[in-house]
Amino acid sequence: MNFDIEKIRADFPILNQKIYGKDYIYFDNGATTQKPIQVINAVSEFYSSINSNIHRGVHLLSEKSTKAYEDVRAKVQKFINAEHEHEIIFTKGTTDSINLIAFSFGEKYVNKGDEIIVSAMEHHSNLVPWQMLCQRKNAKLKIIHFDKNGELETDKINDLITDRTKLLAVTHISNALGTINPVKKIVQLAHNKNVPVLIDGAQAIQHTIVDVQEIDCDFYVFSGHKIYAETGIGVLYGKEKFLNEIPPYQGGGDMVDHVTLEKSTYLDLPFKFEAGTSNYVGAVSLGIAIDYINEIGLNKIAEYETELLNYATQKMQAIEGLTIFGNAKNKASVISFLLKNIHHYDAGMIIDKMGIAVRTGSHCAQPVMTYFDITGTIRASFAFYNTKEEIDRFIEAILKVKQMFD
Ligand code: ALA
Repeated sequence: MNFDIEKIRADFPILNQKIYGKDYIYFDNGATTQKPIQVINAVSEFYSSINSNIHRGVHLLSEKSTKAYEDVRAKVQKFINAEHEHEIIFTKGTTDSINLIAFSFGEKYVNKGDEIIVSAMEHHSNLVPWQMLCQRKNAKLKIIHFDKNGELETDKINDLITDRTKLLAVTHISNALGTINPVKKIVQLAHNKNVPVLIDGAQAIQHTIVDVQEIDCDFYVFSGHKIYAETGIGVLYGKEKFLNEIPPYQGGGDMVDHVTLEKSTYLDLPFKFEAGTSNYVGAVSLGIAIDYINEIGLNKIAEYETELLNYATQKMQAIEGLTIFGNAKNKASVISFLLKNIHHYDAGMIIDKMGIAVRTGSHCAQPVMTYFDITGTIRASFAFYNTKEEIDRFIEAILKVKQMFD
């Protein structure tokens, strides 16, 4: 396929180094993605020539800084096809975005005896905030379960929803299993019963085209660092109607209109939810990362990553004693697996010594591990800068681990 992998890899300095004397292979993209030189340079240039706090100064650089930040808001709006620019709220990341909604939406709409629905395959960030909300409000958390392939039991959603259900929160792509959930269908099911839906897009935004109007979700959240930008910047998309209705999450500067010693009035969207100095440099990095991805094309990225996934899956399935967890029909480039009688940490550490970075453990999704009655897996997650040659070396590493334990 028409994909200039050499050119792409040259853009990522971290990939072009040796670890333990070996060409570095980075297969931990689910945890964070590496940054292209365009993003690294843009951040450095911003600090070298523009840096000033946003929304505050009349001086030239403050104006430039503010414009750079607000331009990214417009870029994100276009990237996920939101209807309005002010529906894009900058946050610290996915977790921050979910906590914002759990708090603000929870304050406004959730009362004793109400229900929130999540799935059993959520990352802790899309589970714990809802547990905390339910504890605060004496509400009930209900669960959509998944089957042994890692497919959500969407046929049960109708029965889970009652007239006390206030919100359904579900991941777009599972970080532990790779499952791509049918979010549009889930939203339809929930909307049929007037239940709003939050989608956790932390593992989806970098792998697939996201169109929030087409999905028709009420909230969509993701992190910059998973999409080749800096850490500490994230996005909360919310439909205008909800964002206008729910109260601010944090108070402070930059979100207020008029302040007296007794009380304050708040700014309109999106500023109402952006108290304090926002991570405007992180936002700039996100803008550059989006440009970078747009230039290659998410369609091409998705196609290439699927090729990598299929190639690796086929090779791994042929290894005796290797079990893959998560065999959904529709999967992103994430492979969670175990080797018979070998602890995932041991395998991960040996693989690391061969210059290959994978993640081991529960992947912040302990209920998923509990379902499979395991304590963790080894997880390889691929990005568009990875190659089949790297996968070949990874397969050799797995065989070496097996050999050492045999
Ligand atoms: N959520 C990140 C992962 O899955 C940290 O690894």
